[in-house]
Amino acid sequence: MIGLQHRFGEITMVATIGLALWHGIAGSGEPPTAEQLKTGRFIYERGCAICHGMQGKGDGLAAPYLDPRPRDFTKGEFKFRTTLNGAIPTVDDLARTITHGLNGTAMSPWAELSKQDLQAVITYVETFSERFKTETATPIKVPPETPFNMEAVRRGQRWYTDIECGKCHGTEGRGDGPSAAELKDNWGFPIRPTDLTQAALYKRGASPTDIYLTVFTGLTGTPMPSNAGNLEKPQDEWDLVYYVYWLSQGKSFANAQKALRSQSFSLTGVQQTWVK
Ligand code: HEC
Ligand code: HEC
Repeated sequence: MIGLQHRFGEITMVATIGLALWHGIAGSGEPPTAEQLKTGRFIYERGCAICHGMQGKGDGLAAPYLDPRPRDFTKGEFKFRTTLNGAIPTVDDLARTITHGLNGTAMSPWAELSKQDLQAVITYVETFSERFKTETATPIKVPPETPFNMEAVRRGQRWYTDIECGKCHGTEGRGDGPSAAELKDNWGFPIRPTDLTQAALYKRGASPTDIYLTVFTGLTGTPMPSNAGNLEKPQDEWDLVYYVYWLSQGKSFANAQKALRSQSFSLTGVQQTWVK
């Protein structure tokens, strides 16, 4: 695998020197300091550019070999946000993607970054798009979860049919709906709807909250739409989420309940499907 063996050692050492002069915090509204950018750039060029490219255009050396392709940061379009569809992500959204990685893709977790290094690299990533200078990121309010039970799952299944999630994801959620084969992302690459029956393939994660965010903020840059405002009550929204969640847990209520209790949603055992 290109680019994953490079990690740390010398990076941490030099970055730490940069951090002695750390002042600003990404997302604080203050312009980043020169030192912050220097540290961020150092980490980015050694850790991220191999995939995302030196100019953040998603065209690093490894890019042609990867599916999905690494993100082009210059448009300011991000999939995994807590903000409205099309809006820029919050610093926390970017932090989560970077520390947890994206399941089933070449974007692996950077859990070893210190808090300061993480903030520095985010600050640097934000310089690739002017949008971060002019727009603010406001997270949506996720309503409190309603009870998870089989009645909720059954009601949710009706919403899944009514809203026509199956057009892309298939009637049984296996990612094989009638539109599945012809979808493209905003960057012009073919994209497949997720097989919703496999929790390990949910890029962002497969907790009910993860699913809520995906379904009600959409995945900007992909055909996955936002359903914000499509359902009347928070309960309807959670019913739909619970149906999908149940699918992801092998259609087993017992499994689904167990995963909720342990807060472990199959984030391990990810299949490496992303090398072309
Ligand atoms: C081995 C290749 C690789 C490396 C190295 C890599 N990434 Fe990624 N990254 C990806 C891929 C591939 C995606 C796109 C996944 C997708 O679109 O589903 C991605 C997506 C992202 C996203 C966008 C998430 C979104 O919501 O759209 C961010 C932010 C990101 N990477 C940051 C980083 C940072 C910061 C580093 C370095 C610390 C890094 N990446 C290193 C491959 C890589
Ligand atoms: C027009 C096609 C289309 C429709 C309609 C659609 N989706 Fe998607 N969905 C996609 C695509 C494409 C992806 C994969 C995006 C990616 O991998 O970057 C996706 C991804 C997802 C994911 C996985 C997110 C992750 O973390 O990887 C979930 C969950 C999801 N969709 C649920 C739904 C639900 C529920 C509905 C109906 C309310 C729905 N989708 C309707 C195209 C669609």
